[in-house]
Amino acid sequence: MQQRIPTELVAQLGPHHRARVLAHLCRLSERDLWLRFGYAVTDDALRAYVRKLHFSRDAIFGIFDEAADVLALGHLGFNKNTSSTTAEFGLSVLPQARRRGFGLRLLQRAAVHARNRGATNLVMTYVPENDALKSLAQRAGMQLVSDVYEPRAFLSLEPPTAASLMDETFSEMLAAIDLGFRVANADAVQHRSTSA
Ligand SMILES: CC(C)(COP(=O)(O)OP(=O)(O)OC[C@H]1O[C@@H](n2cnc3c(N)ncnc32)[C@H](O)[C@@H]1OP(=O)(O)O)[C@@H](O)C(=O)NCCC(=O)NCCS
Repeated sequence: MQQRIPTELVAQLGPHHRARVLAHLCRLSERDLWLRFGYAVTDDALRAYVRKLHFSRDAIFGIFDEAADVLALGHLGFNKNTSSTTAEFGLSVLPQARRRGFGLRLLQRAAVHARNRGATNLVMTYVPENDALKSLAQRAGMQLVSDVYEPRAFLSLEPPTAASLMDETFSEMLAAIDLGFRVANADAVQHRSTSA
């Protein structure tokens, strides 16, 4: 059977994408931000979060639409203590892009990256009311640990192999090219509309 190639690829983001990351977060409702971060987030706190994103220590992933807007965003955090082998993941998907498999794809992409960086576990912490995240974690085969205040979902990761490293390098290369085109097109459209 022929496999469908997804038109929206998962790309790893860099510091030059901060404005797009912030625009994505600003499009989430108050409730979504609470589900994402576990507390009420002010505009200033969002801006500080984006400003402090550590692109070289952590890994930030995005799925973009044709206009290079971020539809789905994932943050894979690595502990400052480099001996820790657990990576922490948090994500958000714009309401209009939900139930299209983007959340699951971000999680799978993050798991490959964490594995290739030598992590042995990926963890997602969520508020007890977050049924969608709980279902997503179950769908991904994660182990759920109940807690009244802060339930967690764990994914055990295999050690990296030459194949897992090659696979990540190749898919990242494709995604970076695709994203480059989307950003260039979006910038050209904006330039035409401002100079018209
Ligand atoms: C949780 C969230 C990231 C899910 O993203 P998504 O892109 O819609 O998820 P997917 O389409 O990849 O869903 C994969 C599976 O998860 C489960 N799932 C996702 N959303 C669900 C929902 N609202 N209700 C029940 N199951 C759900 C389903 O099993 C789904 O598979 P299916 O669509 O084939 O049935 C998204 O709802 C979101 O951004 N919520 C607000 C922020 C948030 O809660 N972040 C997580 C905190 S770490």
